[in-house]
Amino acid sequence: MDIRKAYLDFFASKGHEITPSSPLVPDDATLLFTNAGMVPFKSIFTGEIPRPNPPRKTSCQTCIRAGGKHNDLDNVGYTARHHTFFEMLGNFSFGDYFKEQAISYAWEFVTQILKLPKDKLYVTVHQDDDEAFEIWQKHIEKERIYKFGDKDNFWQMGDTGPCGPCSEIFYDQGAENFNSDEDYMGGDGDRFLEIWNLVFMQYERSADGTLSPLPKPSIDTGMGLERVMAIKEGKFSNFDSSLFMPIIDEISKLCKKEYIYESGASFRVIADHIRSSVFLLTQGTNFDKEGRGYVLRRILRRALRHGYLLGFKKPFMYKLVDIVCHLMGDHYTYLNEKKEFVKEQIRLEEERFLSTIENGIEIFNEELKNTQEIFSGEVAFKLYDTYGFPLDLTQDMLREKNLKVDEEKFETLMQEQKDRAKASWKGSGSKNASGDFKILLEKFGENEFVGYEKIECETKILALLDENFKEISSLKGKGWVMLEKTPFYATSGGQSADVGFLDDCEVLDTQKFFGLNLSFVNASKELKINDVIKAKIDFEKREQIARHHSATHLLHHALREILGSHVSQAGSLVEFNKLRFDFTHPKALSKEELECIEKRVNEMIILSSDAVLETMSLDEAKKSGAIALFNEKYQDNVRVLTLGESKELCGGTHVLNTAQIGSFYIVKESGVSAGIRRIEAVVSKAALKFVKNQLDEIAKAKEELKNNDILNGVKKLKNEIITLKEELKNSNKAELKSKNINGVQICVESIQNGDIKAMIDDFKNKFSKAVILLAQVKEGKVLLAAGVKEAPLKAGVLVKEAAQILGGNGGGRDDFATAGGKDTTKLDEALKQSLDHIEKAIQC
Ligand code: ALA
Repeated sequence: MDIRKAYLDFFASKGHEITPSSPLVPDDATLLFTNAGMVPFKSIFTGEIPRPNPPRKTSCQTCIRAGGKHNDLDNVGYTARHHTFFEMLGNFSFGDYFKEQAISYAWEFVTQILKLPKDKLYVTVHQDDDEAFEIWQKHIEKERIYKFGDKDNFWQMGDTGPCGPCSEIFYDQGAENFNSDEDYMGGDGDRFLEIWNLVFMQYERSADGTLSPLPKPSIDTGMGLERVMAIKEGKFSNFDSSLFMPIIDEISKLCKKEYIYESGASFRVIADHIRSSVFLLTQGTNFDKEGRGYVLRRILRRALRHGYLLGFKKPFMYKLVDIVCHLMGDHYTYLNEKKEFVKEQIRLEEERFLSTIENGIEIFNEELKNTQEIFSGEVAFKLYDTYGFPLDLTQDMLREKNLKVDEEKFETLMQEQKDRAKASWKGSGSKNASGDFKILLEKFGENEFVGYEKIECETKILALLDENFKEISSLKGKGWVMLEKTPFYATSGGQSADVGFLDDCEVLDTQKFFGLNLSFVNASKELKINDVIKAKIDFEKREQIARHHSATHLLHHALREILGSHVSQAGSLVEFNKLRFDFTHPKALSKEELECIEKRVNEMIILSSDAVLETMSLDEAKKSGAIALFNEKYQDNVRVLTLGESKELCGGTHVLNTAQIGSFYIVKESGVSAGIRRIEAVVSKAALKFVKNQLDEIAKAKEELKNNDILNGVKKLKNEIITLKEELKNSNKAELKSKNINGVQICVESIQNGDIKAMIDDFKNKFSKAVILLAQVKEGKVLLAAGVKEAPLKAGVLVKEAAQILGGNGGGRDDFATAGGKDTTKLDEALKQSLDHIEKAIQC
């Protein structure tokens, strides 16, 4: 049975719009990952944006629970039903149907579509939710309805956000198959399996913990695909289902060990973690030292440690990518597109960790011998810092021994390190979501962008907002303006915003908030609602932006052509004077590759291809071969831009013909994070400026070199340096005047040219017992150096004493030291005193 399809079809037949899965990295700064099906709809639940039509949706959402409020990482492998990555089927009502209908739909699907036997089903409700308790009795006997408190029957997305009491459906897998003390309804055992959670969304929790009612009671549900699949296939563990067994079989084949459920936690950990890793990597998250990339690293390293337990000593996880893509690629077609890239990234990360894992495990085992109950926080930190063991990996290793780590100490050391490195964590900024956007959306809907065709227009001011996005009736100074029609392009897809004027008032920025295009102005005169004004963009800047944007498309195309189809956009910034393009590629680009790419882009520019813009459905666009970005949310109808051979989905503004780009120069290539490279480039006027600067520098170099042939000039300089070095070496060899006292060779001299440090070394090498102090006057200062070999004196003391006479200071080791002095007039006196001191010391 294709459960995904059955679910979506069922709810489509009940008037729900099917919505594709949103990215795992949500457009929500309060969350690390999309951890439930409702996440993409959060702003609809809270009323920040108006309800869609129809006000009901259904989806199969990919989720990750490996950090933040819902974190299942520690349990994975040790239970039958926890995963870091899973698929959640859900139906959502936005102020439309509520408890009665949600319960009835769920019951119908479970009993009539899934055909689960009623006598195996149980439900739970919140202890205060009499309404749900009553409704359920229409479907199931009272004895099978359990009431629990907040811990079990109150659901919320994160520390803040929409939430409400919930009701869960459980499937009894049979007393005969389970025998733990926890195998009762509400216990932690595996016998009673929660398959579906119906959340009656009624509140929004704010940061201070208070609950305020949502504008309209809504429904959010989540049915775990993996659990239902296992039940339908008659398996007691999700890992025994056809979603996981092929991966486990592959692991078994690779390590040549049989998988036995009872002792198979390591197999399960790996099978789960390879799925998360593949999905995160294909969606653009990469291994990193912090943030989401670090969670991915923790997941993979946890799996590698389990691989180590299974005997893997070489990279192996990357070999599992094929089977994951084979199992999931039909539904998630983007997996196959990025398969080779993902393999390479995983293999590189495996190599990074495998080089230290053995030593790390040895250190861990050593410390284990000293551990009674609490494992040392210092050692855990050392494992983290030097051997790349994330804390939860160490905790996972201790879990098997029933031990805990001294987390407090670990955290203190971590904090100290962070303070030292002055690391600043940059959270992803979220747009201010507490403004009056909803009011504006309800009053006016989204305003019209006319900037594809026009650079100026007469238009009406629909609304004015202060800097905190609160509606105001007039504006003088800084604030936001909503125009009926606007030629101003709002920052999006990496393209920076248009600037310009509303009459005489300067427009400094333009941004989109929930579909509203708002311009930030500094109003020199009073602007009022309903004023008709002239909106005019800075066309010169717009043209420059368009040229850089179109060049970005050509660059993307050239990169894929030259480096391979694994290249995909990981970030983009388009400004009037530069472009920056981040893309997936495992290693730094060679000089030849960069030259080739630059040349290819310039060729495409010279071909003078007309830009062809078409609007079509997303499906049609994908079929036409247009490149789409995974992380981008697209409308149903998309703009497809063709520039010669490049074809991409894009909402930005572009040139009419590639020739308008002029020329293209790569200014810099660098790494952003593991597997992500960055190219910075300039075109058109910015390219002219870049080249002009380069030429100016060349002219200056010619002048400095006094040679029109720079290469020849540099060559001459190099030769001169070689000659001078040679001379210097010879002058080092000049005989120093010295005398022998009691078998110790002594030298105190002022030297004009040569390297006195090297001279001291030579002198010491020549004699078995030696004391030498040399001085050299350079740029009005005295440099002192002394060496002592097998004699009762200290070089550090010698230079210090001499330096003090010269008004300076210094010191160092007993056998060699340097110092500096300022007063050159006292040099003779200083040398004489040093010689006296040395002679006396040696004579007595
Ligand atoms: N959002 C609910 C959950 O994740 C359905 O359980």
